[in-house]
Amino acid sequence: MQLFPWGEQLAIDLGTAHVHIALKGQGVVVREPSMVAFGDGRRQPVAVGVEAWRLWERGVSEVKVVRPVRGGMIADFDAAVAMLRRFIRQALGHRPLLSPSVVVAHPAGATGVELQALRHSLTAAGAGQITMVQKPLAAGLGAGLPLHSDEGYLIVDLGAGATDIGLFSGGLVTAGQTVRYGGDNLDETLIRAIRRQQGLRITSSAAEYLKQQAGSVQQTPNPGAVPIDDVVVVDEDRRVDSYNIDVDWVPQILVQALEPLLEELTWIVEDLPDSSRRQLELGSLVLTGGGTLLRGMDELFRERLQLPVTVAASPLSCTILGLETILNDLSALSLNGRRFGTNTL
Ligand SMILES: Nc1ncnc2c1ncn2[C@@H]1O[C@H](COP(=O)(O)OP(=O)(O)OP(=O)(O)O)[C@@H](O)[C@H]1O
Ligand SMILES: [Mg+2]
Repeated sequence: MQLFPWGEQLAIDLGTAHVHIALKGQGVVVREPSMVAFGDGRRQPVAVGVEAWRLWERGVSEVKVVRPVRGGMIADFDAAVAMLRRFIRQALGHRPLLSPSVVVAHPAGATGVELQALRHSLTAAGAGQITMVQKPLAAGLGAGLPLHSDEGYLIVDLGAGATDIGLFSGGLVTAGQTVRYGGDNLDETLIRAIRRQQGLRITSSAAEYLKQQAGSVQQTPNPGAVPIDDVVVVDEDRRVDSYNIDVDWVPQILVQALEPLLEELTWIVEDLPDSSRRQLELGSLVLTGGGTLLRGMDELFRERLQLPVTVAASPLSCTILGLETILNDLSALSLNGRRFGTNTL
């Protein structure tokens, strides 16, 4: 069975940090930061994606860099439309003649209003028929979980703005939830810790860099220091271009910052119905999403949740790979696209 019998077909993962688009038959053709830069007046964007990210990272003051998605949901509608329009055209390689059909991932816990915002933004950006799939289903498929088995896998998709959670079993997702806590919150915690402990104010792009340089939630034997740009020494009210910050204490801060998420997950597991708990005991917790790239996350989650934990092979790409699976082989997955939690609006 073919979901969209004519026209071009796209899969879109519109994330807080990254947008991925796959074109049917061609694989993932767009991987870009989820950012748009506007000049004065905010009519047309001056830069989108990686070009906007460069402006943000350099802190260029003449433009306003907007992140259209926050906490996994559309936060700035016009910016989202401008970005999607540009990326859809980039994915197709030309201006669309017929509106392309789209399979899009949405946060499991999105409200009706948030789903409408997603649908309307895609339509305004030129999409035709839209099929929505919840993120834990897409991430589970993209992580290569077995479709025909009784085991349960607790998907934990730790993105930039949110963590999507759901129990994947036999190709179905139950107990889907979105916790609005992700990698951005880890950056924010680092900014506060550096301000309080070292009297330094750093930018969010610097916090992101510091997190990735530390790269771990475990103490490393030879930590060292990394140069951080554009730092304000608060007491002296002095701005310095570059400042060496030790990374040895970063893992400890990250573990503390992950506490609210671990607490929420503990509760979600405790609150599962008995039948789901039994399925999960046969399976494992599966980590996907960019936040999972920190070393030692599997051990941290294993210790706290007392469950076997695996990290997916390409954490940043699981959602788009799962959407691509749905796009390419819908008949292998579902009867009319509904059985697996999809929802044609
Ligand atoms: N090497 C790395 N080490 C640590 N964190 C990383 C690394 N690479 C990316 N991240 C983090 O991963 C997050 C981005 O992940 P991802 O692309 O899965 O999010 P997203 O899908 O855009 O967001 P969401 O699903 O929440 O809307 C960011 O918070 C980023 O800091
Ligand atoms: Mg994501």
